[in-house]
Amino acid sequence: MGYRVIGLLGSPLIEGNTAKLLEKALEGVRDAGCETETIAVTNLDFQPCMEAFYCRDHETCMMDDDMQAMYHKFRDMDSLIVATPIMTMGIPGALKGFIDRFQVFFMAKYMRKSSLVSPERISRRRGLYIGISGMNIPNVFDGAKLTMKAFFDIIDVKYHGELLIRDMDHIRDITTRPDLLDEAYRKGKELGMMLREGK
Ligand SMILES: Cc1cc2nc3c(=O)[nH]c(=O)nc-3n(C[C@H](O)[C@H](O)[C@H](O)COP(=O)(O)O)c2cc1C
Repeated sequence: MGYRVIGLLGSPLIEGNTAKLLEKALEGVRDAGCETETIAVTNLDFQPCMEAFYCRDHETCMMDDDMQAMYHKFRDMDSLIVATPIMTMGIPGALKGFIDRFQVFFMAKYMRKSSLVSPERISRRRGLYIGISGMNIPNVFDGAKLTMKAFFDIIDVKYHGELLIRDMDHIRDITTRPDLLDEAYRKGKELGMMLREGK
């Protein structure tokens, strides 16, 4: 059976530094024998959560937009890699809007005590967070990490690890740092191998 890993891109730049790191990680996942799919948040058409609370009693959202397909994909995936730059000391607004719409999963799991994800999948689902920031300061990822951990919790993905790269204002082009691209590949491959080996 082929395991499916989604790579979620939070940067609006489809060929930017974050995207290159994500692609390296997904290459590692594929080399481990798993299937991958990249989803770029900026390519999706959706609105932010309007707090209609339709999801309190339904397994979906009342807003009929691209998130409907995302709910299916995020139910059926086996693991997740989120790659995103820091914007204004947090994650980009579009990615935050995307994550907020997973209130559909929150209500099922925490209010109705019935996760949308099957127990078998929950047992193997892991998440990797790849973050990059322009600045080189210690706390720059603090807010993003809190959001990422909450997101992973809500969608029943175990927080497996992270690759946090500071100082992009000086690095500028990630291809000048093959060591960092190799690290992304290694972490992706590790994630894929764990799936394949049933760990
Ligand atoms: C609107 C905006 C806000 C940003 N805010 C921050 C910030 O608060 N802290 C920081 O370290 N970098 C910040 N950055 C820098 C980005 O994190 C950095 O340039 C990153 O490498 C962008 O990755 P990308 O080119 O793959 O999208 C910001 C960039 C943009 C465009």
